[in-house]
Amino acid sequence: MPLHLLAISGSLRAGSSNTTLLKAARALAPEGIVVELYEGLGALPHFNPDLDVAPWPTPVVDLRARIGAADGLLICSPEYARGVAGAMKNALDWMVSVEDFAGKPVALFNASPRATHALAALRLTLETMAARVIDAASLTVPLWSAPLSEEGIATDPALAQAVRRALEAMVRA
Ligand SMILES: Cc1cc2nc3c(=O)[nH]c(=O)nc-3n(C[C@H](O)[C@H](O)[C@H](O)COP(=O)(O)O)c2cc1C
Repeated sequence: MPLHLLAISGSLRAGSSNTTLLKAARALAPEGIVVELYEGLGALPHFNPDLDVAPWPTPVVDLRARIGAADGLLICSPEYARGVAGAMKNALDWMVSVEDFAGKPVALFNASPRATHALAALRLTLETMAARVIDAASLTVPLWSAPLSEEGIATDPALAQAVRRALEAMVRA
């Protein structure tokens, strides 16, 4: 069975650098790793504990099923106003009450070296939720200042190697 990683971008923007980095990871994944891009972030309702009961909203059921089926997560999310993008935090809030989220291996990809506050906050949230952030599988690359396409990342030797190494670290984790 291949290792199945669910990639979640915290940006809803069509030309998102965070989503592009995850798409490049999907393209660069070596044999034995399948990267699936989660595309339901924008359809999730705002987290409300009153809605966290049966029958759960369909997008929430879908998110939980995809995360539950994944061996690990690749998360790449922008920083807005020195915080985690709201759409990303909203998705995580929907996972707080899900028991099998604990222990889930997570690689934190970061498309901007400037986005240190969001990265730290994201890590704190994930650790609070008992996810396992895999440092060896996490990386920061400067895509924000010099946007690259998916192909541009995949054909850049240094970037491609960094992404491949991160994916291989997920296999080991
Ligand atoms: C409203 C807004 C607030 C932002 N705040 C920050 C910030 O606090 N720190 C930072 O490094 N970048 C900030 N940025 C820049 C974004 O993180 C940057 O545009 C990033 O590339 C967005 O991700 P995306 O390309 O995946 O959409 C902000 C951008 C916007 C639109």
